[in-house]
Amino acid sequence: MTDAPATCDILFRDATIVDGTGAPGRRGDVAVTGDRISGVGDLAATTAGEEIAATGKVVAPGFIDVHTHDDRALITDPDMTPKLSQGVTTVVPGNCGFSLAPLLPEHAKDPVFELMGGPDAFLYPTFGSYLDALDAAPAAINAAPLVGHATLRAGAMDTMDRAATEDEIAAMRAKVGEALESGAAGFSSGLFYPPGRQAPAAELVALIEPLAGTGAVYTTHMRNEDDHVEDSLEETFETARQAGVPVVISHHKCAGVTNHGRSTATLGRIEKARQGQAVGLDAYPYTAGSTVLMNELVERAERTIITWSNTVPEAAGRDLAELAAEWGVEILEAADRVQPAGAVYFMLSEEDVQSILAYSRTMIGSDGIPHDKHPHPRLWGTFPRVLGHYARELGLFTLEEAVHRMSGLSAETFGIKDRGRVAAGCFADLVLFDPETVIDRATYEQPERPAAGIDMVLVNGSVAYAAGKWTGSRSGRTIRRAA
Ligand code: ZN
Ligand code: CU
Repeated sequence: MTDAPATCDILFRDATIVDGTGAPGRRGDVAVTGDRISGVGDLAATTAGEEIAATGKVVAPGFIDVHTHDDRALITDPDMTPKLSQGVTTVVPGNCGFSLAPLLPEHAKDPVFELMGGPDAFLYPTFGSYLDALDAAPAAINAAPLVGHATLRAGAMDTMDRAATEDEIAAMRAKVGEALESGAAGFSSGLFYPPGRQAPAAELVALIEPLAGTGAVYTTHMRNEDDHVEDSLEETFETARQAGVPVVISHHKCAGVTNHGRSTATLGRIEKARQGQAVGLDAYPYTAGSTVLMNELVERAERTIITWSNTVPEAAGRDLAELAAEWGVEILEAADRVQPAGAVYFMLSEEDVQSILAYSRTMIGSDGIPHDKHPHPRLWGTFPRVLGHYARELGLFTLEEAVHRMSGLSAETFGIKDRGRVAAGCFADLVLFDPETVIDRATYEQPERPAAGIDMVLVNGSVAYAAGKWTGSRSGRTIRRAA
């Protein structure tokens, strides 16, 4: 127990404190003074400006969404309701190789940049200028952005269907340096996507070497997540090992019916690699993935739902096979007709999803895509789904373990200081929820339904979400990795 402050601003009285370390929940009080937690334990003598009766409720660290594409949403939709309503207080944007900075519109022509809302969204010539823009117009939640490989390639290369030359690597390395000096949490790659696909491992080693010893991490949407997922894991380990950098495998999965069940082998490889180097991973709690519309994914998926289409806007939310039937064409012809577009792809097995979630090193990351017209439900449902469905209903792990994998473990892995724990002195990023009722409500049919059971969210000591609504608070901060 810590010293009890005589007074504080906000006091959660008689909560079950689940502190983010994985330790068993315990009954007690949590005091907040200014932007920090000022006391945890029996605070019977402490008086407060505002006292919140929390009997039967859990106070936990605000959740850290380690895998996001919220780069632009933080600026255009500062309420960040899809995340805030889940209890998320910090996001890591810039994953899968796509960061909003540093890049300008004339270089953001590749279709994958539609993930960020298209070329016009790219307004930041340096990584630092993007972080400054976040400071100048803060969102409701914190952000610890990554710099993306595809973004750097788009800025440095006239065509991305080849390996980068030495000069291009030098130009990109200089931008990695600028991003790191500005405080980037790390570097991401998306070697599956066309802009990154032709980059050999040596290019990645050269680009992530500057991260070594800085505390910054390398996150990767690997080259392959289906038939060659194990080869891709080995490539990932080797790349990170050569550069001497900690690595996080993004949205780990074994895609396609013929690869179902392979998570036993992939998790075995991850566990083995961990004996010699720092390896982490994240996952979302769904059997469908989502990204831009790509024929090779349509062919692999058991079912495809369109999430947005520039040419046929009314296709959003529709099953691609149904559209094809209506139009009397083959499914790939229907895909061509709606391009450029995005989609949800059903291609994972529930067994693999569960074994990956159950693995003790797996962090929770939504991979939500905020600008889609009919998004994958993971955008609004990921964290309450892990707490309510996988922990409470299925008993896949304890509530404490679930919270750890969405807070303490995440902060530790991404070097996010003084967050991810309920402890005196930490920033007061907190979520109050009902462990009996917390659950996701977003579905594939109705993907924008807020979760149930999230009572209150504090970001840096300010109440940002209460009574099912954003309060108007914009107390989020740009988290810069300390040198
Ligand atoms: Zn990805
Ligand atoms: Cu992603």
